[in-house]
Amino acid sequence: MIRNMTKKPLEFTLRAKCSRSKARAADMDLPHGRVKTPMFMPVATQASLKGLTPEQLEKSLGCNICLNNTYHLGLKPGQDTLDRVGGAHKFQNWNKNILTDSGGFQMVSLLKLARITEEGVEFQSPHDGSPMLLTPEHSMSLQNSIGSDIMMQLDDVVATLTEGPRMEEAMHRSIRWLDRCIKAHKNPDTQNLFAIIQGGLDADMRKFCCHEMIKRDTPGYAIGGLSGGENKEAYCEVVTTCTDILPENKPRYCMGVGYAEDLVVSVALGADLFDCVYPSRTARFGNAITRYGNLNLRNKQYADDFRPIEEGCKCPTCRPKSEGGMGITRAVVNSLASKETTGAHFLTLHNIHYQLNLMDEAREAILEDEFPEFVKKFFKDLHGDKD
Ligand code: GUN
Ligand code: ZN
Repeated sequence: MIRNMTKKPLEFTLRAKCSRSKARAADMDLPHGRVKTPMFMPVATQASLKGLTPEQLEKSLGCNICLNNTYHLGLKPGQDTLDRVGGAHKFQNWNKNILTDSGGFQMVSLLKLARITEEGVEFQSPHDGSPMLLTPEHSMSLQNSIGSDIMMQLDDVVATLTEGPRMEEAMHRSIRWLDRCIKAHKNPDTQNLFAIIQGGLDADMRKFCCHEMIKRDTPGYAIGGLSGGENKEAYCEVVTTCTDILPENKPRYCMGVGYAEDLVVSVALGADLFDCVYPSRTARFGNAITRYGNLNLRNKQYADDFRPIEEGCKCPTCRPKSEGGMGITRAVVNSLASKETTGAHFLTLHNIHYQLNLMDEAREAILEDEFPEFVKKFFKDLHGDKD
């Protein structure tokens, strides 16, 4: 077979760097198209984002990368089906990029009974309770069958606030598991395997882990083990420690980070990619994320509020009909809020648009070298001290 050896499955091109922070704007070219960073990646757990079709995610929201979970796809439709149809892009009819998390984190966080050994993550099948084992090799095999554009290594994830030998063991094991993942990866020419930095809140462990992962020269690096109850200062220190060391010419992904404030601050600290279930999950509880703070549209004060969810919002829900949107008011969402599907659908569209747009605006500001001004305005709008 003749292969084009010059074209890598991930090309990361820096477009601008902020002169007063570590924020960067880049183009990340992947097998299913270009992703402009900084970028928030919505989570589509069961092959589709709850409440949205792939078509809406792509066409109405302009999203070109979403997250799937290896664990969920491995159970349903299962590896045989994925192999038969030729991967998750075909299965879901999604022609944009897919990032898959390796499965271990979901198992540890969803199934409290998971047990971690050097071999892998042991857990009980949610179907019949039989013992199952997810190894780095099995996770890679599943992710190869899925055909994700970005695959995550299997990592040993422990609670963020854990200290001492267990955290150190998890960090070292994650390095060993990365080596097993690299060895087991069948498609390095078409699928990008990212390393995940662990080490809790300990700066020395994080530094050590960064240096070890960098030696393995993966196409990108994730910062894992965050958003687990640590305070903002500790969070920022971990991100800073890692972005100080990680190479400038590769993407940096803060896993599980999704609150708007955290996205903006993390971009300032040099992170490029984020994911979180928060915007779609909170939509299902009736919450709208807006520039001026969150609204719970189930509250009766919104029953006769005929404004859009967010004044000036360009999402399909808020945009007036005359501009091709649906022109949905707060009152409408309020009236639907108890009937889950439609209300949740409107709010999911709005919330995902909010996250994507926030990162678009951050990118524009970085390109104009006005990022600190953007951050100032973001916090001013959010905290309501409008002039
Ligand atoms: N999602 C959020 N945090 C993590 C993490 O540390 N590891 C993995 N694999 N997924 C995550
Ligand atoms: Zn909106």
